[in-house]
Order: sequence, then structure tokens, then C-alpha cells
Amino acid sequence: MKSYSIVEPDVKTRAALEAAFPRLCELPDPLRHAALTAWGSMLAASSYTAITDVPFSHGSQARLVDHTNDVIEAGLALYQTAQTQWGWRVDRARLLAILLLHDLDKPLLMDRVEGTDIDTPVAARIPHGVLGALMLAELGVEEDIIAAVATHATHAPLRGPDPEVLILHYADLFCADALLQDTARLPFFRRCRK
Ligand SMILES: [Fe+2]
Ligand SMILES: [Fe+2]
Repeated sequence: MKSYSIVEPDVKTRAALEAAFPRLCELPDPLRHAALTAWGSMLAASSYTAITDVPFSHGSQARLVDHTNDVIEAGLALYQTAQTQWGWRVDRARLLAILLLHDLDKPLLMDRVEGTDIDTPVAARIPHGVLGALMLAELGVEEDIIAAVATHATHAPLRGPDPEVLILHYADLFCADALLQDTARLPFFRRCRK
């Protein structure tokens, strides 16, 4: 059975999502509408009441919305450097959508039960990134964005050559490690091969 349904966000949900993600309003339509519908649908299918209730990751007290907004700001800063220093040509709207949507599936992958973080059943069946990508495909989002979301996890079997993918990678790991340092888990930058 499918673990989510596509639901059109009502006025209250739209307002809550726009407040949680201040840069969402910078997306052009129809991308903006797809992003609102995606986050609203994922939240509706999850165990969380509000998007601000969703944790960033196992063992972290940080919120997913704060991590997502951190990644957006870090990604846009990297984009600015790449564009002005190295002349990179990056589609800003596509990059913003990728940064905003990369962790879309997290509300469905983890539950916090009496202070303990557990994987949901779907987390054992579909890798992080892929579930969000499936939803975005259903919403008619372009394949560049779907591919970036589907392959962004550190254990993904491949990662595409698009500059937006590279920017997401470093923005995401930088912001994730900033939060992981406050947990019992080892930050990614310290995970050296022995
Ligand atoms: Fe992620
Ligand atoms: Fe992330």
C-alpha cells in the first residue's frame, strides 16, 4: 500500500508552510505550488501535526525546518560564490527547489515515540531521498529536481554531474554536520576510512 496521498493544501496549511520556509515564496509557479503540495501531502501522511514538529534526524533536538532553511541559505551562498568567482551558470529557481525539497520524505521516515527515534516501516523499504522523489514525479516536477532529491543521500549509488547537485551536497553536509556535532553521532566530516 502507498504510504502517502497527494492532497491539495488548504489555506491554513499553505500559510504554515510559507511561514516555516520563508524562501518558498521566491519559487515561480508551478514549482511553488508543487512544493507547497509536496510538503503538505508529506506532512498529512506523517505522524506529525505541524511541520515545525518534525525532527531533523535521529537523536537531534533540532527541527527539520531549521535544517532545511540552513541548507537553503548555505546553498544560495555557495551559488553566489560559484557564479561570481567561477562563472558557473546555475538555474536559481531549480537550485532553490532542490535545496527546499531535498529532505521532503523525512516526516515519513522517522517517528519520535516517547523521546525515542524509530524508523517507520517505509524507511526500511525505500531509501531516503527516493520517497520524496516519487512524490515529486507524481506532481509533475522536472526530472533534474527529482534526480537531485533522489540521489542526495550520502549512501546513494550515484550522484549526477549538475552543479545544483554539487551545491546541495556541500550545503547539506555542512549544515547537517553543524547539528550532528550536538548529538552522540559522528559528523560526516569525521567519518574517515580506516
Ligand atoms: Fe537528506
Ligand atoms: Fe538535509
